[in-house]
Amino acid sequence: MTQTYLLPEYDVIKSARPVNVSSVPQRSPFRYPGGKTWLGPLFRCWMFSFQTEPKRLIEPFAGGGIISLTTAFEGLANEVVMVEMDRQISAVWKTILSDDAQWLAKKILNFELTPETARAELNKTPNTDRDLAFQTIVKNRTAHGGILAEGAGILKHGDGKGILSRWYPQTIAQRITNIEFIASRIKFIQGDAFEVMAKHQKQTDTVFFIDPPYTAGGKRAGSRLYNHSEVDHEHLFAMCESLCGDFLMTYDNAEEVRALAKCHGFQSKAVPMKNTHHAEMTELLIGRDLDWVEDGGVFREESPAYHLGSQKSHRNISPSKKKR
Ligand SMILES: C[S@@+](CC[C@H](N)C(=O)[O-])C[C@H]1O[C@@H](n2cnc3c(N)ncnc32)[C@H](O)[C@@H]1O
Repeated sequence: MTQTYLLPEYDVIKSARPVNVSSVPQRSPFRYPGGKTWLGPLFRCWMFSFQTEPKRLIEPFAGGGIISLTTAFEGLANEVVMVEMDRQISAVWKTILSDDAQWLAKKILNFELTPETARAELNKTPNTDRDLAFQTIVKNRTAHGGILAEGAGILKHGDGKGILSRWYPQTIAQRITNIEFIASRIKFIQGDAFEVMAKHQKQTDTVFFIDPPYTAGGKRAGSRLYNHSEVDHEHLFAMCESLCGDFLMTYDNAEEVRALAKCHGFQSKAVPMKNTHHAEMTELLIGRDLDWVEDGGVFREESPAYHLGSQKSHRNISPSKKKR
C-alpha cells in the first residue's frame, strides 16, 4: 500500500530553531496583532536572494509596518511604499512621516497615563491626523493585545501593572524619532492594497511583501483583530500571479491557503515561530520560488551592528551574500 497520501503537500522547515521575537529589533511604535517582527531574519534572506537589488519594496497591508521599517533602516531597497486602509493606523504613519513627528513624540512623553486619562483621551473625537495619531497610540498601548478594531477592551491587569503594562513612553518616542531619520526613504499611502499593487504590477524592479488579514478557512481571527479584515484571497493570489516583480506572502498555515497557493503554481513553506505567549506554531510563507529559505543561517539572531541614520548598507552581514 502506498503511503504518499500521508506526506505533507508543503514543506516544513525542519532544521530551524523558532525565532524568538525578543531577539529581533523592535522598530515599530505599534504593538500590532499579527505583527511580523519575528520574520525579520527570513525577510532579509529573501531580499538578499536577488541577483539585482530591488529598487522598491511595497508592503500593501502595512499594519505595524515592521518589514517596511526593516527595509528602510537597513537600506535593503532604495524606496519603501507602505499601504494601509485603516484610518487610525494611517494617521500614525502620516504623522510620523511628517513634520509632526516630534509633536507626537513629545505628546507621548508628556502624557500621564491613568485609567481616567486614557478613558478621557479615547472618548475624544480627533479633528486632525496628529490628534488621531496620538489617540491611536494610546489605544494601541492600552487595549488588549494592541487591538484597534471596534469593541477592543482596555487592559485591566497587564503584567500586574494594569493599564501601564504596555506604556513605555520613552521607547515609543525614541522609535518615532528613529523613524524620522529614515522618513525620506518611506512613502505612505492611505488606500487600497489592490489598487497600489495594480499600479506597480509591471515593474520588474519592485518587490512586494504581502501580509493580509486572514479570515478564510474557518479561522476568523482576523475579523476580531482589524477594522478591515475582508480580503478577496483568490483575487489577491491572481494579482500576485500577474506581478512582474517578485513577492513574498505570509498567511496562517491553513489547508485552504495551501490549496490556493498550489492552484496558482506557488510554493508554500511552514515556518516555526514563537508567538508573544511563547507558544510554538507555524506560519506559511508563499512565493514563486522559496529555495532561498533553506539557504543558510536563516534563524540567526539579529546583528548588533545596527546604526541609526547610517547610510551604509548592512548587506554584508547576510550569510547568503555568497550567492550574489
Ligand atoms: C495582518 S495585518 C498586517 C500586519 C503587519 N504585517 C505587521 O507586521 O504589523 C493586515 C493589515 O491589512 C490592513 N488591510 C486590510 N485590508 C486592506 C486593504 N484592502 N488595503 C490596505 N490595507 C488593508 C488591515 O487594516 C491590517 O492592518
